[in-house]
Amino acid sequence: MNIKLTAQLPKTHTQKILKKEAKDKDSSCLVVLVDNNKNILASDSLTEYQERIEQLMAVSHFSGKACETVADYALAGDKKTTKANPLQLLLVGVGAIDKLNHSALQKIAKTIYQSTQKRVASLTIALGDALQENEFSQLALNLLAATYRFDKYKSEQTTPVLTDIYLLADNSLQSALDFAQSVFVGQSLTRDVANEPGNICFPAYMAEQAQELGKKYSDILKVTVLGEEEMSALGMECFLAVSRGSVREGKLVIMEYQGKSKFTANHSASYRDNASSAAKAGLKAIADKLPLKANTKKGNNSDAPIVLVGKGVTFDSGGISIKPGAAMDEMKFDMGGSASVLGTIQALCEARLPINVVGALACAENMPSGEATRPGDIVKAMNGKSVEILNTDAEGRLVLADTLCYIQRYNPKAIIDVATLTGACVVALGHVRSAVFSNDEDVLFELENASAQSGDLIWHMPLDDEYQSLLDSPIADMQNIGGKGAGAVTAACFLSRFVEEGQAWAHLDIAGTAWNSGKEKAATGRPVPLFMQYLKNSVDMA
Ligand code: BES
Ligand code: MN
Ligand code: ZN
Repeated sequence: MNIKLTAQLPKTHTQKILKKEAKDKDSSCLVVLVDNNKNILASDSLTEYQERIEQLMAVSHFSGKACETVADYALAGDKKTTKANPLQLLLVGVGAIDKLNHSALQKIAKTIYQSTQKRVASLTIALGDALQENEFSQLALNLLAATYRFDKYKSEQTTPVLTDIYLLADNSLQSALDFAQSVFVGQSLTRDVANEPGNICFPAYMAEQAQELGKKYSDILKVTVLGEEEMSALGMECFLAVSRGSVREGKLVIMEYQGKSKFTANHSASYRDNASSAAKAGLKAIADKLPLKANTKKGNNSDAPIVLVGKGVTFDSGGISIKPGAAMDEMKFDMGGSASVLGTIQALCEARLPINVVGALACAENMPSGEATRPGDIVKAMNGKSVEILNTDAEGRLVLADTLCYIQRYNPKAIIDVATLTGACVVALGHVRSAVFSNDEDVLFELENASAQSGDLIWHMPLDDEYQSLLDSPIADMQNIGGKGAGAVTAACFLSRFVEEGQAWAHLDIAGTAWNSGKEKAATGRPVPLFMQYLKNSVDMA
């Protein structure tokens, strides 16, 4: 889909009136937005059509409520009128202009696309200066996102007639439009990989996708993949406990986006080779004695990267704590967190934002087998802490725990992990908002800003100390599940134990927002828009 700014109304050369069956390759359509007081948006630029628009509103009793549409074939009482009015005109209601929020913009964009994609080749949407920049960006991204399809497994694909969208609006919105296009490219990759079934998309497939990006954007992106042997040398027993039961090898994929400067990780930091358990105990003893770094915020260096960590469980059967059968297929989306990190990195490469970002994809398949981890097994994380695995279905936090330990060698400005982590989060927030947990007011504030601006919504959840004790184990440093209540919170508490004191960190639980279920079953590409807004704002602030 081509999407461009324009200062011109469409040409009126089409002879056909808008018809359901019409597939005129040269046809163009003018989309006029009207609010619920029947005010025509961008009316200044539409004076030559004013009369026809008003005539059309009158004959159709158009009220301008959100997503109401009327096409100008409503004017075609007889053939003569049809011929006299060649331009295809589509009125789209936007409702109350002061209530034009994210969900209204999304519905309006969908309506415009769906009512035209089979019928006209190009669209001009008259916006003028009716929208603020944020609203404009959201509309542009939602128009593009509406064109997304995943039909590669259907024997027959349908191609839309619509190929060009022109936005009649001010030139000054060009950079906002470019940014929306970059976000769309990344978000589409996120949706593509997340929509792939588990027999195609497994850890090595995720690694390949990342490596392809590394080749495509080799001047600013470096990709490294760690296999199970390397993870074992690093002491990542929590991660490996998850992939044990699968014949597919677990992969930890590291993507270094160097948009600002070259940066390096401190690779001497916490590299534990096959240490004996005595040595490991020694390490833990030393770690326990280290002074708390609460006052010195980490990552103050302006080149320090922001690190995004994604849960990449390419299929979550639950392992030995196997899940019930109903809708288990949807657990192919359990890599949605890492898919969103992958897509964000591509969007960054497209937008070329001048910042440093590391993306880490924690990819494993959670399967039952004779080799699989048992409930009750005890393993040690890379930071030396021991974990009693009471439920093998609480696996996301295990792969994330070791990945969080690993990526702190970048001395990050902030860490944000993103995961389809808990069913409890879906109970709490449904499919509208992702949950956010954080130990840092600034990161939280910036994420909430980005949420409001992008319309990719989040909701702040608690991390009070009182919840931590639910993870106490009688035999190890902690267990991997809490009690009956607050499942999303105890999962976040578990993760917090692998973030060093003083390190700014946030956790997003996207269990309810990464995909739609049932007939609409498909990945949403969230929270790529949120991440991109957050990262863009971080440039504007610097
Ligand atoms: N991937 C699931 C969480 C999930 C479930 C996301 C349903 C979206 C829809 C996660 O690995 C999981 O199984 N979590 C368990 C944790 C429990 C065992 C403490 C859950 O939520 O039931
Ligand atoms: Mn699980
Ligand atoms: Zn899972």
